[in-house]
Amino acid sequence: MPATHSALTHDIHDRFRAPILKQSGISLSQAKTSMIEQRLRRRVVENGFSKIEHYLSALLSGKLGAPEMDMAVDMITTNTTSFFREKQHFDYLSDVLLPKMLAERRTPLPRLKFWSAASSEGAEAFTLAMVLAEAQRHGKRFDWAILGTDLSSRMVAKARKGIYNADQIDQIAPELRQRYTMVSTAPEQAHLARIVPELRAKVQFKQMNLMAPSYPVDHGIDVIFLRNVLIYFRLEDRQKVVEHLMHHIRPGGYLFVGHSEGMSVQCAGLEQIKSTILRKTP
Ligand SMILES: C[S@@+](CC[C@H](N)C(=O)[O-])C[C@H]1O[C@@H](n2cnc3c(N)ncnc32)[C@H](O)[C@@H]1O
Repeated sequence: MPATHSALTHDIHDRFRAPILKQSGISLSQAKTSMIEQRLRRRVVENGFSKIEHYLSALLSGKLGAPEMDMAVDMITTNTTSFFREKQHFDYLSDVLLPKMLAERRTPLPRLKFWSAASSEGAEAFTLAMVLAEAQRHGKRFDWAILGTDLSSRMVAKARKGIYNADQIDQIAPELRQRYTMVSTAPEQAHLARIVPELRAKVQFKQMNLMAPSYPVDHGIDVIFLRNVLIYFRLEDRQKVVEHLMHHIRPGGYLFVGHSEGMSVQCAGLEQIKSTILRKTP
């Protein structure tokens, strides 16, 4: 067994759980002990410890400083994402909701605002961008902007670059991949692809904690994607986050949640129109 891979004591796990919960809303059960050990292994070594218990004790006593705590929280977050994840959401948006939203607007060039509220490394926000750009290409007249926010500064920095591995962009249909991503001509970067500048210019990324008391984001958002993040929160925090986000949705706008999260969202003023899609009362 490697030196850093020792079983966490319940005491340390319990003490670590509280700051993680406070800082991110992420609720870590005892079942997550080995995940914690695995994800923090690099931090343990980089801080010169051989045992995770010693690293956590130093971290929790404040000896390693606040930036190290931020980094530890960052390591604990699950950032799994992909392009066109839960594709039926994007199909429904482009086939049903987009025509409906545009028909409801009276202005000649409506401007729609989208928010990917746990955007990880940006695949969800750029998928949205591709869907919207395609709608424009097919003759829909509107302008749009997308905001992506995430707790993890590391993920936000990656999203801003808009650079992905070949296996990640394989999830995009070939025609869209060809239109909206570009591959470097440098042989050593042949495994990488970048989102085209025209899309990157319309997608902004910011670090933001969903547990914060206020969100520095516009009100009047047309569609919020809040997918695959509520599952990490306690029920009461899920409720708080949804209520908070609801104030940022324009009347008649939509909230999308992940496929396993629909049941956990109940909020006065939000009507469930599909198991994972809610609409704010117009
Ligand atoms: C599993 S990813 C989901 C990404 C994307 N929404 C999707 O469905 O593919 C969850 C993301 O939520 C972020 N997250 C966790 N807690 C958060 C919080 N309190 N505020 C903002 N983002 C948070 C994590 O950093 C992570 O990138």
